Amino acid sequence: MTIPRIKVLIWIAALTPLAWLVRQGFRGELTADPVKYITHFTGRTALIILFITLCVTPIRRATGWNGIIRLRRLIGLFSFFYAVIHLLIYLAFDRGFVFTELGEDIAKRPYITIGFSAWLMLLTLAVTSPKAMVRKLGGKRWRAIHRLVYVVPVLAVIHFTWAQKKDISLPLLYAAVLGAIFAIRLAMWARNRIGFGQPAGEALN
Ligand code: HEM
Repeated sequence: MTIPRIKVLIWIAALTPLAWLVRQGFRGELTADPVKYITHFTGRTALIILFITLCVTPIRRATGWNGIIRLRRLIGLFSFFYAVIHLLIYLAFDRGFVFTELGEDIAKRPYITIGFSAWLMLLTLAVTSPKAMVRKLGGKRWRAIHRLVYVVPVLAVIHFTWAQKKDISLPLLYAAVLGAIFAIRLAMWARNRIGFGQPAGEALN
């Protein structure tokens, strides 16, 4: 299948959670607290898509399918898309678009401080994601900025955990999945550096 076709499938898959949410809205299935429900739904969706973004490189290494890298930006942007909805819902319905109240929350509620930091980093990643930005910033600086992709999910999982009143089993499950993704990436990186099991030239890629 060609990359443009796969991109169409990614658009469809990535917009499905939003379509599902709208459907639930029309059917009156957003629970007794729709704002909370939508905040949770969009936050989790942003996080899951971020995890998928982190899986692109390991899939490329495991399968040798280099073209998959051309899909990473689109997938990452959808994570940002849901994080934007997540913030907007909070801002509109919890804070009535009063930005000073958001500022107070950022200053006084640690889980919001962390969520906001993660959001700003996602914004930085999104703004610097076009190819033109790689040229503008230079490869070295661009790569340094894009290391934020490892920080954002960690902050988001802390934000998730801290936002819970009682039961933290679900955020712990997300933390375990993130730990597994990091472990796989680290193992692949180490293997690549040592050049274990592959021709010497490939170890440098
Ligand atoms: C300014 C930025 C952000 C604000 C103001 C914000 C706000 C919130 C609020 C109010 C909640 C619900 C807490 C409750 O249950 O009472 C929440 C939960 C959550 N947020 Fe955020 N958030 C922000 C950024 C992010 C980002 C960037 C992500 C992910 C990439 C994220 C992921 C989540 C997740 C996964 C939950 C928990 C959902 C659940 O309990 O099922 N948030 N956030």
